[in-house]
Amino acid sequence: MKIGILTSGGDCPGLNAVIRAIVRKSEHFGFETIGIKNGWKGIFDESYIRMDLNSVAGIINKGGTILGTSRFSPFEKRNGKDTLLHKISRERFDAIIAIGGEGSMHIAQLAFESGINIVGVPKTIDNDINGTDYTFGFDTAVGIATEAIDRLHTTAESHHRIMILEVMGRYAGWIALYSGIAGGADVVIIPEIKTKISSVIKVLKSRYKRGKLFSIIVIAEGAKFDEKNMGKKKGTEKLDDFGRERLGGISNYLADEIERRTGFECRATILGYVQRGGVPSAFDRVLGTRLGIYSVEMIKEGKFGRMAALQSNSMVDIPISEAIGKLKTVDKDLYEVAQVFFK
Ligand code: F6P
Repeated sequence: MKIGILTSGGDCPGLNAVIRAIVRKSEHFGFETIGIKNGWKGIFDESYIRMDLNSVAGIINKGGTILGTSRFSPFEKRNGKDTLLHKISRERFDAIIAIGGEGSMHIAQLAFESGINIVGVPKTIDNDINGTDYTFGFDTAVGIATEAIDRLHTTAESHHRIMILEVMGRYAGWIALYSGIAGGADVVIIPEIKTKISSVIKVLKSRYKRGKLFSIIVIAEGAKFDEKNMGKKKGTEKLDDFGRERLGGISNYLADEIERRTGFECRATILGYVQRGGVPSAFDRVLGTRLGIYSVEMIKEGKFGRMAALQSNSMVDIPISEAIGKLKTVDKDLYEVAQVFFK
């Protein structure tokens, strides 16, 4: 059995734990593993690396991916499907393990429908993939964002300022909500809930009246306000290689609006790539390891076109088609937990 392993989409803490586990479990079954460099692009470039116990030694604590990644989509290229099929059969891959987020799972599904033996492993700091309770990377990102909130408190209190932290997550508010709850944020703004700036200001003023001259706001990059003058201030207006809107910058708009409407001094911090870099948390290393091991077992059992997932702390597999098409957005119940503190 010859297995190709690829990582696709944004890098994410825990990817190396998955790769390591796949190689180790494959050795156990006597399967051959080939690392495909830079996502699906590696198949087109025929950029491969033979994996063995040595190539995955000492990587569990490393962020990013030793294989490299890209947002290359074979099916968007001219003759992409034929090229993909040709190159995969030339390399005699029996199966491909595709580790990626929502965009990458779409490609995995198309590849499966084209006749390729695919097993999907979900990854993203955004935690927005359907059918799995958590994705690895999320816990690390939440830890970093929570620490950022703790640090912003210092300046907020000393300068009597409103500090806004903008976190990633695309159109899901998981990172914002978890870090907001953990960091004791006074307001959390997420894409799932349409927020009026006036309601945010109401909280800031009520805190001010209680003698709290500072506040911490956490906002998800994909949040949109229920405001007429938002215009195009919702993202960078650029597209990524998957053709998706590149997000970032909404916190600057909010800071300007708060200052303009209240006179409170307000500063925005965009956390950016810091939250998906560096060492993975223990939780993400364990989840990545479990998913890696399970994905090889799926191959042994011929469970193709399926994605490994975590449900109620057990490893399960679901059709990739079920994981795509619908984002896993935040539970209303969890938002209500955070809301108790928006006063
Ligand atoms: O999906 C992961 C993620 O980090 C999002 O939270 C963010 O919007 C996006 O990737 C940024 O990706 P890029 O690497 O294209 O800037």
